[in-house]
Amino acid sequence: MSLAYQPVTIGRYQARNRLVMAPMTRNRAYGPGASPTDLMATYYAQRASAGLIITEGVQPSPIGQAFPNTPGLHSAEQVEAWRAVTAPVHERGGLIFAQLQHGGRIGHPSLYEDRLTPVGPSPVRAAGMTFTADGPQEFVTPSPLDQAGIRATISDFASAARNAIEAGFDGVEIHAANGYLLHQFLSTNANLRTDEWGGTAHGRIRFTVEVARAVAEAIGADRVGLRISPVIGYSDIREDDHRATYLALLDALNPLGLAYLHLAEGADTEFTESLRQRWHGTLILNPSTPGGHTGPEALKLIEAGLADLVSFGGLFLANPDLPERLRTGGLLNTPDQDRFYGGDHRGYTDYPTLAALGEE
Ligand SMILES: Cc1cc2nc3c(=O)[nH]c(=O)nc-3n(C[C@H](O)[C@H](O)[C@H](O)COP(=O)(O)O)c2cc1C
Repeated sequence: MSLAYQPVTIGRYQARNRLVMAPMTRNRAYGPGASPTDLMATYYAQRASAGLIITEGVQPSPIGQAFPNTPGLHSAEQVEAWRAVTAPVHERGGLIFAQLQHGGRIGHPSLYEDRLTPVGPSPVRAAGMTFTADGPQEFVTPSPLDQAGIRATISDFASAARNAIEAGFDGVEIHAANGYLLHQFLSTNANLRTDEWGGTAHGRIRFTVEVARAVAEAIGADRVGLRISPVIGYSDIREDDHRATYLALLDALNPLGLAYLHLAEGADTEFTESLRQRWHGTLILNPSTPGGHTGPEALKLIEAGLADLVSFGGLFLANPDLPERLRTGGLLNTPDQDRFYGGDHRGYTDYPTLAALGEE
């Protein structure tokens, strides 16, 4: 049997296969106080045959929210509601990590009580527009975090991780990718600081390393993953020295003994091999597929030794039974992009399984 279908160690767990559901924001957390709903529980339970589910981005604090109707893990009400999501995944033998995502400068005052200003490493506005309840709006200039703000944000991540465990999650993934707060600190254009949190590559990695350390201390390193996306320029991120920065980051993270590193591969695909070699632990690869996704090709990367597991976004969104489909060479449903963000069950929990298609 292909290596992709053999169990693999992720921190303290054994995943039953090596196909990971990549984190995907779906903006359907309509429960009170940014809590998940029963429909979200159905969506994740449908995908429990993944070796590991990584949830959509979840804000560790109210100011960490980046978009409307994303869920949080900073209140008792949210913890209680998440229990109804994690339990059915476990009943089906799955593993589920919560992705902790702080939006930083990508947030918007319309998301916060008293229309607070989002925070960032430096007062640098991202070019471009964001989606708000009032339609598309320009990004705003963030308030730069001072020393106390940095410390408080790190401890928000640690307490959200503790909340995740209380809510029944197997662990958390720290989101240091795709242009959100940690990636802003890593970048050369959003982080213009001259103190110990910026300046050199060593300064710019510090915030991510300190968040990882605090979260690992809070819940155990073997329940903590971390996602990076070198040279993925989402939300106006620029990285002039990505190779030096990410190699330094991996060197600093290696001693922590995290459960995994999750690499969202960007334009520099040749760099993946160097990161693979530099990282001492388990590697989940989200391969760059500019010409469209081919599931079987991605699984070959495991056989080739480039990754321990591979993650799928769009394909898992549209195929709740993706491992079975790829194993049997079954037809794949196509993701409905118009229903990615917000809405109801349509384009969310109504994608048919192969078994359901066979009964039609
Ligand atoms: C609807 C949607 C929402 C996404 N939201 C997130 C997110 O919350 N956090 C994250 O790290 N990546 C997010 N991504 C990126 C995916 O995790 C993944 O990296 C991307 O889709 C490329 O993988 P694919 O080609 O298998 O889809 C999202 C992607 C999609 C399609």
